[in-house]
Amino acid sequence: MRFQALRGTTDILPEQVRRWSHVEHTARRLARLYGYQELRTPLIEETALFLRSVGETTDIVQKEMFRFEDRGGHDIVLRPEGTASVVRAYLEHHLDKTQGFAKLFYLGPMFRAERPQAGRFRQFHQYGVEAIGSASPWVDVEVILLCVRILEACGITGASVWLSSLGCRNDQARSAEALRKRLLPARSALCKECQDRLEKNVFRVLDCKQPGCRERGWAGGSPFLLCDACTAHLEEVKQGLAAAKIAFDDTKVFARGLDYYTRTVFEVRSAGLGAQDAVAAGGRYDHLVEELGGPSVGAVGFAAGIERILLASGQDRQPAQPAQKRHGVYLAIAKPALIAEGFRLLEQLRERQVDAAMAYDGRSLKAQLREADKAGVRFVAILGEEELTQRAMTLKDLEQGSQRTVPLDAFVEGVAKLLVSDTAAGVRHQGCGIRHQP
Ligand code: HAM
Repeated sequence: MRFQALRGTTDILPEQVRRWSHVEHTARRLARLYGYQELRTPLIEETALFLRSVGETTDIVQKEMFRFEDRGGHDIVLRPEGTASVVRAYLEHHLDKTQGFAKLFYLGPMFRAERPQAGRFRQFHQYGVEAIGSASPWVDVEVILLCVRILEACGITGASVWLSSLGCRNDQARSAEALRKRLLPARSALCKECQDRLEKNVFRVLDCKQPGCRERGWAGGSPFLLCDACTAHLEEVKQGLAAAKIAFDDTKVFARGLDYYTRTVFEVRSAGLGAQDAVAAGGRYDHLVEELGGPSVGAVGFAAGIERILLASGQDRQPAQPAQKRHGVYLAIAKPALIAEGFRLLEQLRERQVDAAMAYDGRSLKAQLREADKAGVRFVAILGEEELTQRAMTLKDLEQGSQRTVPLDAFVEGVAKLLVSDTAAGVRHQGCGIRHQP
């Protein structure tokens, strides 16, 4: 019987991991540059956290959570997003008191039981940023700027930033009332769920997946009415972005699939993604910290899907890997009886930070040399009876196409020196480098 990965989940194979690491490294580097610190939260959380934050009537909560009861009868979910967990951790560890304004980022898997398609998975990975503790529009600008910079650094070109405002809670109450009034005459034309949504959470009509509902919701333009303060906030965000030379489109109206947003919302769209064209999205959530039991402080953040970054930047279609400098050592042994001696040398090489490998299954020397070449190693060291008797190793340099004999006692030291001087000469090794960068 052969098993397969579950629908909507994928294995990330070693050659793809290189591209993933590049995105993760870029995201971490830029986050630090902007003063954000990494936070890691558990993959499982209490269900109530998301009912409270994302919203009971959202698709995420109603249809997409992997929800189960654990053996102790606790209602648990695999986290569908990161913002709620970050705010929970912020409060649980009193960062509101010790740090006040906290700038945090995270990288990791999220889970939503959606119908899988290109760019949409059930286990996907988000890079997210949350700035908690400020209501300043300049933080919105910083967060959007960081988002754009990361996508640019990952090679995404031609993406557009859609920027809008959902207004404060008062505005949202007014907007909901107006939208309800507008939709009520067409009630019977809405799907069953949207008829319910009219009373419970009318904004959800705006992102209904049934044909007709969404369109009716948007007919007549944006339903979001903004008070003067919210208009001024949006204006400041626009001015900040313009000053930073970040292009944005404020003519598009869109809904977010999570209920915690107030004021600024944005999505970064990339044409290359087809139907799933949001590569990153976020916004302000000025009431969430208080709703989860904390002080009344403003907050803003975004999350980008790593799979979508790779899709939108075309990195998933690029050749398997960039040409790499040959690196490391492969120890080939002439006969299986020499495994123990070979293994001892192998470990000594690794202690000297040299990438080292050998075959353990008694293959022919020829097969071992072929394997070494395929693996892209720099040196092959051959250990045979003769070498042991003469206490000297044959060292083949696959890059230079040369060969030399090295005294067995000086072998480990000698190889390490050769590779280190190579590194010092400015050779940068990708992947598993000979000398790992700290
Ligand atoms: P979201 O719009 O639900 O927002 O997701 C953000 C990003 O995650 C999307 O733009 C997309 O790139 C990726 N994504 C979402 N669902 C999937 C999926 N099923 N498969 C692949 N990628 C997916 C949030 O999650 C908010 N927590 C963002 C935020 C942070 N708002 C404020 N702070």
